[in-house]
Amino acid sequence: MPQFASIGAGLIGRAWAIVFARSGYPVKLYDLDPAAVDRALGLIDQALADLAGCGLIEQPAAEIRARIQAVASLGEALAGADYVQESASERLDLKQQLYLEMDRLARPEAIFASSTSFIPTSQFSRDVPGRHRCLVAHPVNPPHLIPVVEISPASWTAADVVERTRQIQIQVGQTPVVVRKEIRGFLLNRLQSVLMAEAFRLVDDGYCSIEDLDVCLKDGLGLRWSFMGPYETIDLNAPGGVIDYAARFVNTMLEIDASAESAPRAPSADFFARVNGERRRVLPLAEKDQREAWRDRRLMELLAHKRAMAHKLG
Ligand SMILES: NC(=O)c1ccc[n+]([C@@H]2O[C@H](COP(=O)([O-])OP(=O)(O)OC[C@H]3O[C@@H](n4cnc5c(N)ncnc54)[C@H](O)[C@@H]3O)[C@@H](O)[C@H]2O)c1
Repeated sequence: MPQFASIGAGLIGRAWAIVFARSGYPVKLYDLDPAAVDRALGLIDQALADLAGCGLIEQPAAEIRARIQAVASLGEALAGADYVQESASERLDLKQQLYLEMDRLARPEAIFASSTSFIPTSQFSRDVPGRHRCLVAHPVNPPHLIPVVEISPASWTAADVVERTRQIQIQVGQTPVVVRKEIRGFLLNRLQSVLMAEAFRLVDDGYCSIEDLDVCLKDGLGLRWSFMGPYETIDLNAPGGVIDYAARFVNTMLEIDASAESAPRAPSADFFARVNGERRRVLPLAEKDQREAWRDRRLMELLAHKRAMAHKLG
């Protein structure tokens, strides 16, 4: 049975501990800051109770929780670990140092996967003697509710490390995708960046309100996108499939893309102050934690629904 270590017990590291433990595997949880581990354990208990409430875990929460062991040193966390998921703070110098240390302490066969959002494997592992075992396994927050994981190796990452990571992620219930060549932002954040740049522009240039922009996603594109990707979508959006779609729509889309309104530019100076004013009117900062809990409940209900539908409709 593979042994897991989750390094860093913040937002992401604690969620990874849930992912590994709920799949039946023991996981050691470590953070440089002991208070972060204490906080994480409380939040893990809460998340497990919520998952149980939505029927998203098959075993009693206490059984899953018992597989998560908080440890006080990096050496203890790595002892016997086969797969190490690193979710320490997003700083290149910190990660470079941490990987050197992990390489000294862990078994030679152990895989080192980083949750980093933006730092390529070739940067944080460059000087690590065992850099062939390093790669990115980038989750989406929170990974215990959103299954996609972007696996992004460096040119020197061993092919079998990529494949073993893919298999391990499948084993723990995640959905891995492989980024074949290193690129800033991997896949998901590149898609998100393009969409957000357009969302900023459309509101900043006065084409619509913030609320209406959000409606276009949550009551429009997002409905389909929650169970089929854009390529699957376009294949069904023209009677003759994707070739027909290309003939009907792609030139117009390319024209829109090349038009003056689409030229890349930064939002106006007061744009985010204005967005903040409107957002704080509907969601005071004091209620943000509650709203995050609400979001996670909605995600859990959606996941439960997706699972039931996948079973019923394929
Ligand atoms: N927050 C997100 O939405 C998100 C999503 C995907 C990936 N990530 C990535 O996951 C990683 C963690 O992000 P987060 O949001 O959980 O941050 P966070 O600030 O909530 O947690 C980071 C934790 O790392 C600990 N830490 C710092 N240095 C350490 C070390 N040397 N050894 C052990 N622990 C150490 C800190 O004490 C802190 O508790 C980052 O690389 C981030 O880019 C974040």
